[in-house]
Amino acid sequence: MTKPSTALVIGASRGLGLALVEEWCGRGWRVTATARGHSDQLATLATRFPGSLETEVVDINSADSVQSLQQRLNDHHFDVLFVNAGIARSIESTPVDVDETDFLDMMLTNALAPVRTIELLRNLVLDRGVLAVMSSELGSITQNTNSRWQFYSASKAALNMLMKGYATRHPDDTCALLLVAPGWVRTELGGDDASLSIGESIPLVVDTIDANRGKPGLRYLDRFNKTLPW
Ligand SMILES: NC(=O)c1ccc[n+]([C@@H]2O[C@H](COP(=O)([O-])OP(=O)(O)OC[C@H]3O[C@@H](n4cnc5c(N)ncnc54)[C@H](OP(=O)(O)O)[C@@H]3O)[C@@H](O)[C@H]2O)c1
Repeated sequence: MTKPSTALVIGASRGLGLALVEEWCGRGWRVTATARGHSDQLATLATRFPGSLETEVVDINSADSVQSLQQRLNDHHFDVLFVNAGIARSIESTPVDVDETDFLDMMLTNALAPVRTIELLRNLVLDRGVLAVMSSELGSITQNTNSRWQFYSASKAALNMLMKGYATRHPDDTCALLLVAPGWVRTELGGDDASLSIGESIPLVVDTIDANRGKPGLRYLDRFNKTLPW
């Protein structure tokens, strides 16, 4: 029997992260999934997949918390690390009226912390594996014409740039480095007006990850594995 593939999903208490975990477990993978604290939904999922889903705790905004996770998992080797965690605040605001704390929180949680997490957990990922971060179509400076979500969009564009920085500093990394845009999806963050259900997005995101295994290099991709303009 072939060994099951393995994934570490960061930010899996609910929404798209939880769905990624469910999708990979359903495909027979072994998954380690993290939440910031206790998540009823993740705990329920773990009872459905005993033996293939283990849960962990991490807050990516704390480098110490990520380093502790790295130490707890240092006997693990993953085919895929997917940093999904993200937040959206002040989505209607303009530079004149935005709450500065909201802006700074998004820059930390959506841009700095995910790439720092990739750096700190890189040694848990197998060579020729996948290092993926959940970006957004709104992070594309070329394509984005949305007059709302401006600071969230800026934080995802900053995420893309920081991943480009990672790729530049680690030119010999054998992993695929993926910035993945899942589409506009109905979750707490996406809201009720979003065009897609979770089921219309996440299986395609997982297919996209699969299609990029063993292919080193940085790519900004949508859920159909199509390249997005920066
Ligand atoms: N929904 C969309 O339309 C859409 C579109 C494009 C991109 N995205 C991106 O997809 C990702 C998931 O979004 P979602 O729609 O599933 O949102 P969500 O339902 O609000 O879930 C966000 C997840 O991120 C976690 N998280 C937030 N801050 C964290 C931190 N400091 N450390 C660890 N985990 C943290 C949350 O944990 P808690 O439960 O502890 O808060 C939760 O699990 C985000 O990066 C988002 O920007 C979403």
